[in-house]
Amino acid sequence: MRVPLLDLQRQNLPLEAELLDAFRRVVRSGQFILGPEVERFEADAARMAGARFGIGVSSGTDALLVALMALGIGPGDEVICPSFTFFATASSVARLGARPVFADSCPECFNIDPAAIEPLISRRTKAILPVHLFGQAADLEPILAVARRHGLAVVEDAAQAFGAEYRGKPVGALGDFGTVSFFPTKNLGALGEAGLVVTNDPALAEKARLMRNHGMQPRYYHRTIGGNFRLDALQAALLAVKLPHLEEYTAGRQRNACFYQSVLGGVAGIQPPTTHPDRNHIVNQYTIRVRDGRRDALRRHLDERGIASEIYYPVPLHKQECFRPFHPISSLPVAEALAEEALSLPVFAEMTEAERNRVAAAVAEFAAA
Ligand SMILES: Cc1ncc(COP(=O)(O)O)c(C=O)c1O
Repeated sequence: MRVPLLDLQRQNLPLEAELLDAFRRVVRSGQFILGPEVERFEADAARMAGARFGIGVSSGTDALLVALMALGIGPGDEVICPSFTFFATASSVARLGARPVFADSCPECFNIDPAAIEPLISRRTKAILPVHLFGQAADLEPILAVARRHGLAVVEDAAQAFGAEYRGKPVGALGDFGTVSFFPTKNLGALGEAGLVVTNDPALAEKARLMRNHGMQPRYYHRTIGGNFRLDALQAALLAVKLPHLEEYTAGRQRNACFYQSVLGGVAGIQPPTTHPDRNHIVNQYTIRVRDGRRDALRRHLDERGIASEIYYPVPLHKQECFRPFHPISSLPVAEALAEEALSLPVFAEMTEAERNRVAAAVAEFAAA
């Protein structure tokens, strides 16, 4: 039996008729960029994120760019973000001419360590950019408190965490901006590229909307320099078909994670992810730590048995060649350890019981050897 990391066909094919209806509707409408399909989806998705405003954009990466541009981040500014995250978190800062300043992570939940932030604040710091990694909220309360003390903006990178909660509230609109990705591997995945910016602040929403469309208002009058970060009507229409199923997709992932937790909890050399009781972890990834330098051996063991796994992420950002100019030679021990020990297992909602049994048994068997 082969177990893939993700099987999008199992999620999308049961909705094929509705997806084709949505496609047909968009073809017949003749409106392919922004427009009513996008506006409808923005409203529904923003509601889901507990936000007053949602701005549909072309990807999670562009959502970050739009949010940072709307905050006026630019050359000479610094933005504090985790090092153990996907590249786009920090590249969006650097692409605007600002400097990403890398903070270390929490060894249990893998998110930015709130205690690591304040010592990194300088007079150039403009914002903090926590990431809700793998679908679990970062510890926002101390992050928001430090931001308030120093007058900094907070952008939540919720690319992997649409629907996640922190102390009973959806993530995204707890800071100034939240940014979401609908890349197909996410809990809510488009059939292409798509993203969303959310905020509760009407002035910031207005700026983000301007930035998404060349800073243009009215047409061909440019108030500021933005870009083309617009969402396609087709992706909005397809996402609208899948949005009502998001809770069920997430519940399936949570069930699988719960099962893994029960099997792998006491297994020597394997550290399952810690889920904080005050957060609703949506399990975009189920990521274990494999101790004693055995991560790559476990990955080979799984591969030989037809079980896919992935390393998110093998190199922390402060060690990436492109970010070396931004980061002095100091080390971030937790981020570095996570890069050597993290392994993500298949956890998609549509996995069969036999598949998840097979994955858990193969990990346990490896650990016992
Ligand atoms: C933490 C994080 N930020 C940003 C992004 C960028 O999103 P996209 O791939 O939609 O551009 C991703 C994508 O996986 C991500 O995981």
